[in-house]
Amino acid sequence: MDQHLNAYGDVARPTEAGHGMDIASQRADELDLLAIEQVRTLVSRGDAKGAVLALDIGCGHGGQAARMAQAGAQVLAIDVEDCADKVAASMRAQGVARAAWAFRRIGIEQIGSVDLQADVIVCQRMIHYLRHGDALAALTALRRAAAASAALYLSASGMDSELADGYAGRGVDVRERFALLTADRACKHQIALPVCLYREEELADLARAAGWRVRRVFRSSFGNVKLVATRG
Ligand SMILES: C[S@@+](CC[C@H](N)C(=O)[O-])C[C@H]1O[C@@H](n2cnc3c(N)ncnc32)[C@H](O)[C@@H]1O
Repeated sequence: MDQHLNAYGDVARPTEAGHGMDIASQRADELDLLAIEQVRTLVSRGDAKGAVLALDIGCGHGGQAARMAQAGAQVLAIDVEDCADKVAASMRAQGVARAAWAFRRIGIEQIGSVDLQADVIVCQRMIHYLRHGDALAALTALRRAAAASAALYLSASGMDSELADGYAGRGVDVRERFALLTADRACKHQIALPVCLYREEELADLARAAGWRVRRVFRSSFGNVKLVATRG
């Protein structure tokens, strides 16, 4: 399990229940760094209402949640699995005070129950576990729960990545696309559940349909899709 997974040198660090590998605890990618920069900008301006609030959705082991807290945000990390101990360990590793973060075990589908007008929202490497229609509903509810000037940093596994080799969802409209990876790709990346892989425009259209204003879309060299959007 210590073989490199990709060109970045990430190693196999599986999350729970077939939801893929935890990457954020290994490194900050370009999208993570943009979110941290936004946290720092808001903290230095000191004009957010009180604390700068950050939300990490599908936080896994909490690597990005910890970096955002370390950058000065008050962080809520959520995940459908019980990641409390791993998030606590990531926070300790970054030297984050206990009062600066919380973890809640809920799915993005329950985001409406979270009473937090987040300024910075990160959702990396999880939205593809939802059917397109469910992702649309979740991102719409997320926008309603965000601060007026909130920024969203969203990524999904990509149709142009190696995950799509032999993928049965290729050629299927994104609104219907939801299929298992081939056995060898599923095993390598520990993705045991059906997924909706995205092309860049498809993820951008999804965010737009949920009401977000898409500012930037790009693809990582692995082939995953990343975007930055704002609420207004
Ligand atoms: C591939 S991991 C990514 C973890 C981390 N964000 C990263 O970038 O390394 C996907 C995470 O999403 C979580 N997850 C899957 N479905 C979810 C849902 N519906 N709501 C919230 N979290 C979910 C999984 O439990 C897992 O921790």
